[in-house]
Amino acid sequence: MKITVVGAGAVGATCADNIARKELAEELVLLDIKEGFAEGKAIDMMQTATLLGFDTKIKGVTNDYSQTAGSAVAVITSGLPRKPGMTREELIGINAGIVKGVAENILKYSPDAIIIVISNPMDTMTYLALKSLGLPKNRIIGMGGTLDSARFKYYLSVALNCNSNDLQGFVIGGHGDTTMIPLTRYATYQSLPVTELLDKATLDKVAADTMVGGATLTGLLGTSAWYAPGAAGAALVESIVRDEKKLFTCCVALDGEYGQKDICLGVPVIVGRNGWEKVIDYKLNEEEQASFNKSADAVRAMNSVLHDMQLV
Ligand code: 2OP
Repeated sequence: MKITVVGAGAVGATCADNIARKELAEELVLLDIKEGFAEGKAIDMMQTATLLGFDTKIKGVTNDYSQTAGSAVAVITSGLPRKPGMTREELIGINAGIVKGVAENILKYSPDAIIIVISNPMDTMTYLALKSLGLPKNRIIGMGGTLDSARFKYYLSVALNCNSNDLQGFVIGGHGDTTMIPLTRYATYQSLPVTELLDKATLDKVAADTMVGGATLTGLLGTSAWYAPGAAGAALVESIVRDEKKLFTCCVALDGEYGQKDICLGVPVIVGRNGWEKVIDYKLNEEEQASFNKSADAVRAMNSVLHDMQLV
């Protein structure tokens, strides 16, 4: 099994590191446009192999897509990260051209690859990959909701002072500060609804903190976060290559599910060997559906920039 991660920046390298530690592939290719950068990161990671006890071979390459040939999964992290005060949406003009080129190159050498998109603005980049590659929709997965749901559970665990692994919870909708929707009503602590354990003000604060989770870290770090985004990408790779069929929120092409069409947006899906295999329908109440529709409107407006740029 061969896996490729494109972009050896902080998110890509962290994702690659997680993939290697979990031994999800015999061969992992890390590709970057910057001369020697991926090679350096790959060698550094390979020098942890005897310390951490993994046996994945990591190979760094500078823009040589022929080395990625035959990958079963490709993770795209390329593009600029956001700076403090910047929205993910502001990156569209720069990142759209980069992501389209990367996705086409991947497909040229790995026609059967499942593509995981991490680059921002993630919902629009996933839609771009879907529209420009012409692949079956199940093979294009945007990572955003997986990360946002992990952040949701982190903030819930702080509020409940509990082990975050005892929590379940999903964030659906777009991967934007105002477009994501923490589904508080469905979040549970070992099957107990969190709505029975926390008061409304606390739950509202958890949801608000989740929504600006990425921006908070960008403010603290001076650039985008990487540990959780990289780990979220690797968790999806794991569910694919081990055919775990786990339920994650991912940005996928909707064709009527959750009342939306011709858009990629975050919904709970089963992830397995075939990519995202099935959308799970959590019945939304009127308020949640209205938020979802509003989120779709905002993402659709952003997608229209792709048409203006003549990229789709
Ligand atoms: C984040 O939310 C990178 O978009 C990513 O941190």
